[in-house]
Amino acid sequence: MHRPLGITVSRHIMDLQRMHPGATGELTGLLNELIVAAKTISAEVNMAGLADILGMSGKTNIQGEEVQKLDEFANNTIKRRMARCGYLCVMTSEEEDDVLPVKEGYEGKYTLAFDPLDGSSNIDVNVSIGTIFSVHRRRNAKDGFFRRRTDPGAGVRTSYVGRQGTVDDLLQKGRDQVAAGYIIYGSSTMLVFTTGEGVHGFTLDPSVGEFYLSHPEIEIPEKSKYFSVNEGNYPYWSDNMRRYIEFLKQEDKEAGRPYSARYIGSLVADFHRNLITGGIFLYPRDRKSPGKASGKLRLLYEASPLAFIVEQAGGRAITDDGVAILDIEPQSLHQRVPLIIGSRHDVDEAQAFLTGNR
Ligand code: AHG
Ligand code: MN
Ligand code: MN
Repeated sequence: MHRPLGITVSRHIMDLQRMHPGATGELTGLLNELIVAAKTISAEVNMAGLADILGMSGKTNIQGEEVQKLDEFANNTIKRRMARCGYLCVMTSEEEDDVLPVKEGYEGKYTLAFDPLDGSSNIDVNVSIGTIFSVHRRRNAKDGFFRRRTDPGAGVRTSYVGRQGTVDDLLQKGRDQVAAGYIIYGSSTMLVFTTGEGVHGFTLDPSVGEFYLSHPEIEIPEKSKYFSVNEGNYPYWSDNMRRYIEFLKQEDKEAGRPYSARYIGSLVADFHRNLITGGIFLYPRDRKSPGKASGKLRLLYEASPLAFIVEQAGGRAITDDGVAILDIEPQSLHQRVPLIIGSRHDVDEAQAFLTGNR
């Protein structure tokens, strides 16, 4: 297969910007800063297994600095870099109870929600983990102003300056995202994102420190033969959910069943595999998860960004009562949501079972 070689992610983002003559370059700048954070986390993830051997475990490392847990490191890397990037007005992270303000004087027009390290139970066992992000334009984006300032080293920059953002700016529907994506730290590090014009995947060449376009215009296969679910939750599922999973395991050669099970336990990794090979991932509500009516995964920085990506790739994402994830009006920062996501045909079929129509 021919793959265009050598297109860096910055070049690709710049090309996207050129297609929008009115664009100010701020989203470009935001994504580029986020990519630097991702590369920093990627380097740290790759070193994680060496920590003990190199004597970096325990309270301090060989430079006498305190060693942070990898999820804390990822959280701090993103929050510190993005707080002064000049393009955001407020952030929220899975690792923080409250909103994260940006540095005063650096308020921009976008908001950022992120899961700094998804799949954290897999950190210590060398299994793929990732970072998920979601970007919205703040509400009333026009109630700010443009300002020119001189940055040491960066010269004169023009940017939008406004007030700090609020919780309200973050509580917006997935449908209104301007960008969403994830970085997967796996056998190689990949960045997959959308700005509403298809889904594109980039692979990090660690020797150069650049992401190169490796998967242009990703489309998720319409129908699959894989399902991803934590079947250990079977006793806590609804009858409809149990019937659906039983159905996937029944033999029916013509319909391509039984399906094969694939479950990593890192949402990013399970989602990424399903995006490329086709598949359906389910984390429905159950009698065990906190806030029983809502499942385990979080709306703002897990379900919503992946839903944007999957729809852009031709797939679907719904709750277990058939509501499109992207149409949910968020009520709180860390709200959980049942998530059924993947190949279009499979999600249609799951919906029929879960809503009692099959
Ligand atoms: P996180 O590591 O960010 O807290 O997320 C863990 C999530 C998600 O990555 C994964 O799909 C899910 O937890 C797995 O949950 P179970 O262990 O209940 O299957
Ligand atoms: Mn997570
Ligand atoms: Mn996490």
